[in-house]
Amino acid sequence: MDLKGCSIVSIRDFPKEDIQAVVDKALEVKSGKWAGALDGKVLATLFFEPSTRTRLSFEGAMVSMGGRVIGFADPNISSAKKGESLADTIRTVTGYCDVIVMRHNIEGAARLASQVATVPVINAGDGSNQHPTQTFLDLATIQEEFGRLEGLKVGMLGDLKYGRTVHSLSLALALFGTKFSFIAPPSLRMPEYTLEQLKGADTSFIEIGDINELNDSLDVLYVTRIQKERFADFQEYERVAGAYRIGRDSLKLLGEEVRIMHPLPRVDEIVEDLDKTPNAIYFRQAHNGIPTRQALLGLVTGTIQ
Ligand code: NCD
Repeated sequence: MDLKGCSIVSIRDFPKEDIQAVVDKALEVKSGKWAGALDGKVLATLFFEPSTRTRLSFEGAMVSMGGRVIGFADPNISSAKKGESLADTIRTVTGYCDVIVMRHNIEGAARLASQVATVPVINAGDGSNQHPTQTFLDLATIQEEFGRLEGLKVGMLGDLKYGRTVHSLSLALALFGTKFSFIAPPSLRMPEYTLEQLKGADTSFIEIGDINELNDSLDVLYVTRIQKERFADFQEYERVAGAYRIGRDSLKLLGEEVRIMHPLPRVDEIVEDLDKTPNAIYFRQAHNGIPTRQALLGLVTGTIQ
């Protein structure tokens, strides 16, 4: 795997071997190797949508490895507000930094940016499409827990239609023979085009509306928030809001060994009584954002091999 100079736009661009190699690299970075590897590098963070974990862990990753950060977290203070096109913003910023991390509400915005920029562009989420760096940290967390990615039983619950994290993660896990259970209200099912791509080799999936319909225990339950901001019709959102609540009592149905993951932020889909159980690994998962993003920044700038 040589990612030097490469943009990270979609998990679809990565063959299985490269996904595994990035995950291994993230855990290697976590073990303390590569300290200071980003010395002197400059990251530009362009966030056109709200973020806590993604932006701060990219910034934290850069700074703690010796790099520096410029950028904005609110598009209202950027020239987008004056009517500048995304392409022109990128043409400009590409001259100020070694790597760009961008989050945008429009699907495909990261691809466009990567075609205009002369430095690598990392997609930190484009609308409800993709969130590849979240996937790498999710996979690093799974590998830490199970020692492997291969052959796991993974449930995904909540907003599978608009949730970009589950789109990227399911495509990646499909390469590792995952047995999926997709749990969503009928209006928020995994999109057909994603399901089509999952119909691969050893992968299988079922679609159900409730965890009571599970016919097997799970290794991982990946819970997601209903993506309120993506609904065109607020009444439609209100019909599904609060549809799921996972708490301590859900463990009986899911299996006592199940690991509960969540990209965060949570709203009300995970009850806080779950937080203190050994099953709840979502904050550990969020903390893996640092080594994973350090690895990715190092790989695309060529300072980590
Ligand atoms: C997710 C996102 O932005 O897609 N958050 C994150 O990056 N950890 C999930 C969400 O907003 O629900």
